[in-house]
Amino acid sequence: MNPLKVVHSTVMSCTKCQLANEGRINPVFGNGKTVRPDLMFIGEGPGAEEDQCGIPFSGRAGREFNKLLKALGYSRDSVYMDNVVKCRPLQNRTPTTGEVESCHSYLDQQIKIIKPKVIVCIGKTSASSLMGVGNKPMKYIQGTWKTYDGIPITTIYHPAYWLRLENYDKKAWKEVKIKTFEIMRGVVKKAQNLEKQNEQG
Ligand code: URA
Ligand code: SF4
Repeated sequence: MNPLKVVHSTVMSCTKCQLANEGRINPVFGNGKTVRPDLMFIGEGPGAEEDQCGIPFSGRAGREFNKLLKALGYSRDSVYMDNVVKCRPLQNRTPTTGEVESCHSYLDQQIKIIKPKVIVCIGKTSASSLMGVGNKPMKYIQGTWKTYDGIPITTIYHPAYWLRLENYDKKAWKEVKIKTFEIMRGVVKKAQNLEKQNEQG
């Protein structure tokens, strides 16, 4: 069997952490381009809609996120989308460090199989887990670079946050959107430069 399918089928019946017993309907495995995509995005965990249909970023935040992708010239099929935990935390609470750690080996295997050119953590839970940035606020870590397994990795604010801001602080909302787009343009450039280097050498 193809190695990604092996990980997928293990996740589908996983009961390694408490999230297996919190009322998940479907574990949500990553989806999109599985062979060396320019971009792999890693969010926090499935919400209600994702849990229902088993597809990451298929709810409100995901639809908002798709607009950003489109503005950058990418379709959902051309990138890989995933989460640090595959099962929905009840009432969308933040997954615990223990839950994230329990699930990490799946994500790590996915990254090693898929080999994205660049990884983008969506939101702080993902960045804390994958970039080793501890509890530092997003405003300081967005757009900064580390490596994961030799792959450049950065982070942007979660679209659920942009959506919340839109309701009570239009100015901050606009600033976050502009900043996120600017960071993402740099991310795309980095992925494309890596591709060029590859071709040359
Ligand atoms: N938020 C996430 O972090 N992941 C999803 O899949 C959906 C919403
Ligand atoms: Fe298993 Fe991850 Fe689901 Fe926990 S969140 S039960 S580790 S697949």
